Amino acid sequence: MVDVRRFVERGITVTTQLSKAAAVPGPTGHPLLGMLPALRDDLLGAILDGFHQHGDVVAYHVGLPRGPRAVSVDVINVHHPDGIHQVLTTPQVFSRRASAYEILREFIGEGLLTSEGDRWRRQRRTLQPLFTPRRVARYTELMADEAARVVDELAVTAGSVVDLYQVMQRYTMRVVGRALFGDDIDEVVPRLQELMPILGDLALARALQVVKLPLSWPTPRARRIGQVRATQYEIVDRIIADRQGRAGGAENEDLLGRLFAAEDPETGQALSIEEIRDQVLVFLLAGHETTSAGLAFTMHLLGRHPEVQERVVAAIGTGDEELVRAAVMEGMRLYPPVYSMERMSESDVVVSGYRIPANTKVVITPWVTHRHPEFWPDPERFEPDRFLGRQERPRYAYFPFGGGSRSCIGEHFALLEMTALLSALLARYRVDTRDERLAVVPRVTLRPAGPVRATLTLR
Ligand code: HEM
Repeated sequence: MVDVRRFVERGITVTTQLSKAAAVPGPTGHPLLGMLPALRDDLLGAILDGFHQHGDVVAYHVGLPRGPRAVSVDVINVHHPDGIHQVLTTPQVFSRRASAYEILREFIGEGLLTSEGDRWRRQRRTLQPLFTPRRVARYTELMADEAARVVDELAVTAGSVVDLYQVMQRYTMRVVGRALFGDDIDEVVPRLQELMPILGDLALARALQVVKLPLSWPTPRARRIGQVRATQYEIVDRIIADRQGRAGGAENEDLLGRLFAAEDPETGQALSIEEIRDQVLVFLLAGHETTSAGLAFTMHLLGRHPEVQERVVAAIGTGDEELVRAAVMEGMRLYPPVYSMERMSESDVVVSGYRIPANTKVVITPWVTHRHPEFWPDPERFEPDRFLGRQERPRYAYFPFGGGSRSCIGEHFALLEMTALLSALLARYRVDTRDERLAVVPRVTLRPAGPVRATLTLR
């Protein structure tokens, strides 16, 4: 149920009773196709518009107004932090049934990101201890090494234009590779890296298919998916086999070693080989694309705001690096790599005073809530100071890592990784993006539409 106390505290009356709840307002769009054309052509613009015109809970009708379910769906976007709190923390009402995760599961198996129920609970219990701030801090040196390495590699191009996105991808793939496997897997990384976008695009194409044929049917797409999956498993299995041969001693410090050693704190049970392989794929997929995009976005913003950049540089190495982290947080406020998350309502439910029927796709979008003027004055302005000191905002005014039981397990890892790179790069180079425009595309995650160009000069 809605956390009524918060509304009462703010003097707002909101009903939680289904019979008294209002119907959700929303744009009507095209007479036949509903909001499909608007959402397809400019999803981020359309949902921000929808929020400005209709408020904290907005319904979008997609497809024919009356017709079989397959071509007509209602999607409800919840934008207020209180509503988001409710969506993320009551998984029995807002499930992940029929979500993109089900499709992803066909590609990367049942790892932490894609598993459900008891299987997920057991995996999360087993893996959580590997991702506490203290355990993750052991990767600080590795991250600093890899950051220094990409910064050194850039020396040849100092004074010229580089693609920040490409630089960040190289960095995050190496970090996640080394953290997972201990080894430098530079020769495997490019092969996996080639597969990831193919996988993402195939998953998206499959997600948009109205009628989903089982993957066992020999359609060309199903065959392509099968091939990509086989190649991917082959690569990961080889790494795992190699690594098993070298097990023991310091080797166990990497994530793969820890996955082998991990035990369910309640039952003492270890993960199976298949589960380990699926986790490896999940970490490669979830840990790399998001972090590299987040870094590229943040660097672009710092390149547009030289005065902020200089303040951040002044903070580097002082021991008080709160401003570096604040810059990363602010970068992900304006450009959240996971720009939207979806759930399915399992029963009729009231959110922020509005009625959401059972079996409705419910979407929460950091892209919009991170620009909610009630919590973010002058929302489009890049201002890392918003994240300094005590913050009075509600918990879910900012949620780049999601929340509730299925929040991002890699949050501390990602923040450490991002601040390490930012510090190393800015300490060496002045970054200028003032002549550039950042265009983004909402795919499975938010990605730059093309190269993120920046001019680097030695400090
Ligand atoms: C800036 C970087 C990152 C962002 C913005 C991000 C964001 C998110 C979000 C929003 C979710 C929840 C999705 C939902 O509720 O539907 C999530 C889940 C997850 N993330 Fe991240 N993530 C990042 C980096 C990482 C890294 C570095 C790793 C691994 C090393 C990772 C591993 C995972 C996993 C395994 C889950 C699923 C957790 C579960 O369902 O129990 N992420 N991430």
